[in-house]
Amino acid sequence: MSIAPPPRTGRHRDRVLAMRGIDKHFGAVRALTGVDFEVNEGEVVALVGDNGAGKSTLVKVLAGVHPPDGGTIEFDGDPVHIGSPADAQEFGIATVFQDLALCDNLDVVANLWLGRELVEGARLDEVDMEQRTWALLRELSAKIPSVRTPVASLSGGQRQTVAIARSLIGEPRVVILDEPTAALGVAQTAEVLNLIERLRERGHGVVLISHNMADVMAVADRIVVLRLGRNNGEYNAAEVTSEILIAAITGAVDNSVSRRATPPVVPDTRTDGTVIPLTSRERRRPGGGAS
Ligand SMILES: Nc1ncnc2c1ncn2[C@@H]1O[C@H](COP(=O)(O)OP(=O)(O)OP(=O)(O)O)[C@@H](O)[C@H]1O
Ligand SMILES: [Mg+2]
Repeated sequence: MSIAPPPRTGRHRDRVLAMRGIDKHFGAVRALTGVDFEVNEGEVVALVGDNGAGKSTLVKVLAGVHPPDGGTIEFDGDPVHIGSPADAQEFGIATVFQDLALCDNLDVVANLWLGRELVEGARLDEVDMEQRTWALLRELSAKIPSVRTPVASLSGGQRQTVAIARSLIGEPRVVILDEPTAALGVAQTAEVLNLIERLRERGHGVVLISHNMADVMAVADRIVVLRLGRNNGEYNAAEVTSEILIAAITGAVDNSVSRRATPPVVPDTRTDGTVIPLTSRERRRPGGGAS
């Protein structure tokens, strides 16, 4: 049994999740008003917006932390109710929150399998867990020197890698990353961005929350802007500039009326309905010239 699903690259990029008209308020604070948000498999969708725009609240609705006050959520086309984190886990929605929630005193293997330990008879199957940990880290091209060191001794980027690897143990369809590069330096950020590309290649739908426009432009396929708890634009990352994004984020451009004018990114399909796979670079270069 492998912990890694077969790569889904090149398959039809099905819609996994569709949130429609999501409302959420905390007392008098309207955190979300009529928000639409979709996630497709094998796609990185960035969720951007100013502080307090509602990004974390939206993903916490998906994670089962906050039940929405209104709106609908569809998973694989069927209406679903995500009432708890356990529901989200069952649907295959994994969230890496900004604080990572790693156990510093435990090693990488123990952190990955915490609560889902493999057992052999009455004993933990340490060998199997360690081998699977290495297999997963190799598949993610992760640079972790040892899986038997406590995570307290790892760098910020390595800790982020461990948290992301842990989220993959349950074979999620959607992986949500809340500000994964916020505390990282240049080289570590590049490593995490590479990791996000690996997740897309594995076929996961990836939701990336970030304040860093360079990161977003580097890895996202589609960019959704929230402003004051409402949708304020949706862009194809291949066609948008950071100036346009910043205008939508700050409200210099109010897209609340015209936001649906931007057609969603639909993959090219062959006559038999299968998708013509594009590399991420081609996606960013409409002319198709890979470099
Ligand atoms: N548990 C809560 N109780 C009360 N108000 C909340 C709660 N969580 C969020 N809010 C409010 O909802 C609004 C949206 O907050 P949210 O954390 O979703 O924004 P964000 O886009 O993630 O911001 P940031 O970029 O600062 O992380 C804010 O006005 C915030 O104060
Ligand atoms: Mg937030």
